[in-house]
Amino acid sequence: MIIFETLSELRAWRKELAQQGKTLAFVPTMGNLHEGHLTLVKEAHKRADVVITSIFVNPMQFGENEDLDAYPRTFEADCEKLKQNNNHAVFYPNVKDMYPNGLHAQTFVEVPDTEYSLIAESSQRPGHFRGVSTVVTKLFNMVQPDVAVFGEKDFQQLRIIRLMVEDLNMPIEIIGVPTVREESGLAKSSRNGYLTAEEKAVAPALNMALEQIKAALISGNNDIKLLTELGTQLIDEAGLKTDYIEIRHVKTLSPVDASTKDIVILGAAYLGKARLIDNLCFERQ
Ligand code: PAF
Repeated sequence: MIIFETLSELRAWRKELAQQGKTLAFVPTMGNLHEGHLTLVKEAHKRADVVITSIFVNPMQFGENEDLDAYPRTFEADCEKLKQNNNHAVFYPNVKDMYPNGLHAQTFVEVPDTEYSLIAESSQRPGHFRGVSTVVTKLFNMVQPDVAVFGEKDFQQLRIIRLMVEDLNMPIEIIGVPTVREESGLAKSSRNGYLTAEEKAVAPALNMALEQIKAALISGNNDIKLLTELGTQLIDEAGLKTDYIEIRHVKTLSPVDASTKDIVILGAAYLGKARLIDNLCFERQ
């Protein structure tokens, strides 16, 4: 497995691949890889001849009081896992090379104010998606993949990236991969590593609450306010602190009513040092 720390090495390699007529699939990550990420790598293998994964903890997408410094950096272990999954190359840039003029002097990319960028993660983490869109654009320009693979756990992120790619005519196919879960239903996440054993035992309450809301919506309950309150109560009673629950149209993210068939339930909750997010998408008759 080749590791590129500089853009010039990456560019030379990318040029050679193009000359050989090989296609490239890209898995952008912030490292601390778990089974969810490795599923993205496996999917990437199905989509192109060569697979490259990036590992970059992007300071631009963290808010001032978030966990940028504490975010686990586990490069050696990540590379081992990637090797075992036949990943061909790793791009491992440093912050100075990525943002040579500093974060505040960096040209940015931002999706406009639509439901995508105003609710849930956007409202709770101002500037987060600007940081994501900007770094993903930069990584796309550096790696120049044919295909890029993202997890559906970050539902809004995936939507925003699809929108950005379409709006800016980026010649890249975006693939979403279903969330990988623990047997308990807890969505796999790098931030689960912050949880103590006791916290891990109650963490599935977030997914359980979303499942209960889903069951109620499928059985014809359309009292969105009540269902949101019920979900919040279930999460809080289990010992988490609900950040938000949103019940929305899966494509437009607009509010739902009795006629809405394609629904996403988005949820986030605090537990100890972790902030957990999850979502459920489904269709009802
Ligand atoms: O999902 C992530 O890990 C990050 O948001 C991403 C897409 C790698 C951008 O930093």
